[in-house]
Amino acid sequence: MADITYDVSSRRWILQMEASTYCLRRSLDDTSLQHIYWGPRIAGATASEMARAPGPFLVPFESPTGISREEYAPWGEIRFSEPSLKVEYADGTRGIEWLFEDHGVERSGAEQTLWLRFRDRLYPLIVTLYYRIHDGHDVIERWVRLENTGGGGPVTIEQAFSADWRPPRRECYRLTYLHGRWGKETQVAEVVLGPGKVVLESRRGTTSHQFNPWVALDPEASATEESGEVWSAALAWSGSWKFVVETTPYGEVHCAGGVNDFDFRYRLDEGTRLDLPAFVGLYSNKGFGGVSRGWHAYEREHVFPEAPDAVRPVLYNSWEATAFAVNEHDQIVLAEKAAWLGVEVFVIDDGWFGARNDDYAGLGDWTVNPEKFPHGLNPLIARVNALGMRFGLWVEPEMVNPDSHLYRAHPDWVYHFRHRSRTEGRNQLVLNLARDDVREWMVATLDSLLSEHNIEFVKWDMNRSFSEPGWPDEANRNPERIWLEHVRNLYWILDELRRRHPQVAFESCAGGGGRVDLGILSRVEQVWPSDNTDALDRLRIQEGFSYAYAPRVMMCWVTDCPNFVTKRTVPLRYRFHVAMAGSLGIGGDLSRWTPQELEEARGFIATYKRVRPVIQNGLLYRLRSPRAGSVAASQYVARDGSEVVVFAWGHSQQFGVTQGSLLLRGLEEEAHYADAMCGATYSGAYLAQKGLPVNLVGDFDSHMAHLVRTMPAHHHGE
Ligand code: GLA
Repeated sequence: MADITYDVSSRRWILQMEASTYCLRRSLDDTSLQHIYWGPRIAGATASEMARAPGPFLVPFESPTGISREEYAPWGEIRFSEPSLKVEYADGTRGIEWLFEDHGVERSGAEQTLWLRFRDRLYPLIVTLYYRIHDGHDVIERWVRLENTGGGGPVTIEQAFSADWRPPRRECYRLTYLHGRWGKETQVAEVVLGPGKVVLESRRGTTSHQFNPWVALDPEASATEESGEVWSAALAWSGSWKFVVETTPYGEVHCAGGVNDFDFRYRLDEGTRLDLPAFVGLYSNKGFGGVSRGWHAYEREHVFPEAPDAVRPVLYNSWEATAFAVNEHDQIVLAEKAAWLGVEVFVIDDGWFGARNDDYAGLGDWTVNPEKFPHGLNPLIARVNALGMRFGLWVEPEMVNPDSHLYRAHPDWVYHFRHRSRTEGRNQLVLNLARDDVREWMVATLDSLLSEHNIEFVKWDMNRSFSEPGWPDEANRNPERIWLEHVRNLYWILDELRRRHPQVAFESCAGGGGRVDLGILSRVEQVWPSDNTDALDRLRIQEGFSYAYAPRVMMCWVTDCPNFVTKRTVPLRYRFHVAMAGSLGIGGDLSRWTPQELEEARGFIATYKRVRPVIQNGLLYRLRSPRAGSVAASQYVARDGSEVVVFAWGHSQQFGVTQGSLLLRGLEEEAHYADAMCGATYSGAYLAQKGLPVNLVGDFDSHMAHLVRTMPAHHHGE
């Protein structure tokens, strides 16, 4: 049971979670908040003992507070490690001197929230820190509210992070993080930290392909996939963000993060407040696998908009098959084939609107192209529905091509600076979504699209980073607020559309995985991890993705060979086995698939539907990394333990190199498991100790096992 309590004598709060404890305390003079403990569960008395331990000694050139373990450091006084908050008051004073004022715990159902209120001792700024925990989880959601109480003019916020995370002091830490680029997202990287800072960030306006806002820290690089202590953190924000992971001269490692402070200023007017996004922390002593399973469970129960056990449908998307050349006839041909395969949602991608025949024109004109769809979309939608599928549509609402009616009518609606170029990316500009008129236009346009058609799925794309992020009409009226307001209005529109059209599921895409984070994931049912659909490359992208995010939201398509990115050709079976590791989709040109291929695909889709609750919502064990060796493998265990799915993917067999059996995890030793794919049966102990035999032959061979638990031996005959 989650529980938060305060101990008056040691001045400490303790957050008791499923298997971990977090502890912090007020300094004696109430001018700072000190981090005490974050790790495996300890008793309240032990936490109090820790809270009473003496603080750091005085060091020349430093102050005790400046080198202490602050939970959240306002810039001011003698502080030189990365701060969390920096402001300028209306009279030009910079620097905060805050005092603790009040605290409380709010309990609601299975969650508890601690709030701690600080006030600048002279200026009208209140800073409230929040900590929320949930029954059954080891996750702490931290965020901050800033309020200008009035009487002193506006407060300009120059930096405002959401939290500063502090793993305990150890010899050194390894940082694990996810980096990438277009077509190569969520690659796992690691570095042993030395003195100084590692900055992971996006300055692109979106979450970005470059880094994903997720990190893990383990002491002395001691954690393995299934053992050891790991501290992890992830940010719920879909705009520019920044994590600073710093090792101080005093051996402290901390990770401060939130919205990016680059080019950032936010004017907090009298009587207004600002809520910063949640920066979420998670501790596990079960290695990287334990951390991932912790994130997945939290996401399913507390982040994703759908119920924890909801399953995503099998999807078809025509992008790789037809690109911009969509029309009613060809899409119906594809839809008929897709329906026969067992597809449940049929999605038309780019090209259906405006003068959109390539990527030079049309964005912004969200009306159906009359040459491609002379009868509108409704006859096609009716046909798709008659085939038993839901209909989905691609949109990219935040963008405009200069060659569009929208841009010709509203050239001021894009981000730009006076007397500067309007630099195009993919021949498009970014709409200034901070503007009220743009926001109103966007919600009205999408609302009528969803009202006039039976659309049950929207792929929301975003295909360039921001440049020239100006707003000349608001010069000297804090135009830099666009960094926040764009994302806040995006969230508002998604929330509003979801409220008005509850039957619509959303997918977040930004040229692949450029907008994947806990913020967008609370508003969309799924995300597109990468435009790269090459099955071999996908293994690494999917591995990194799975460190932070649950398989259910990870869309994986089977597409055609040679792959359009890598020119690689691999067997259909291998492509299916890789794509079945998340939420399955098909993206090939079905009109060119042979009858045998269609038959084979239909079989895989039927199998997938049987096992998808286990894959999408089960416990994931990464048995072998695609970064090591020639065989990669993943295992999924149903939450009630009744079913297990295993995939093994071979890269290239080398004669004489033993592949070994796959030692399975999370099974009941005394239970028996029957493989529904081949009929073999094993005991849990056998699978754990001797392993599941796999024999992958040649190049790009793959194997799937679907183990169904039968009763443990001693239950027979009861
Ligand atoms: C982006 C997306 C693709 C596709 C195209 C359409 O690249 O990531 O999946 O939708 O846009 O133009």
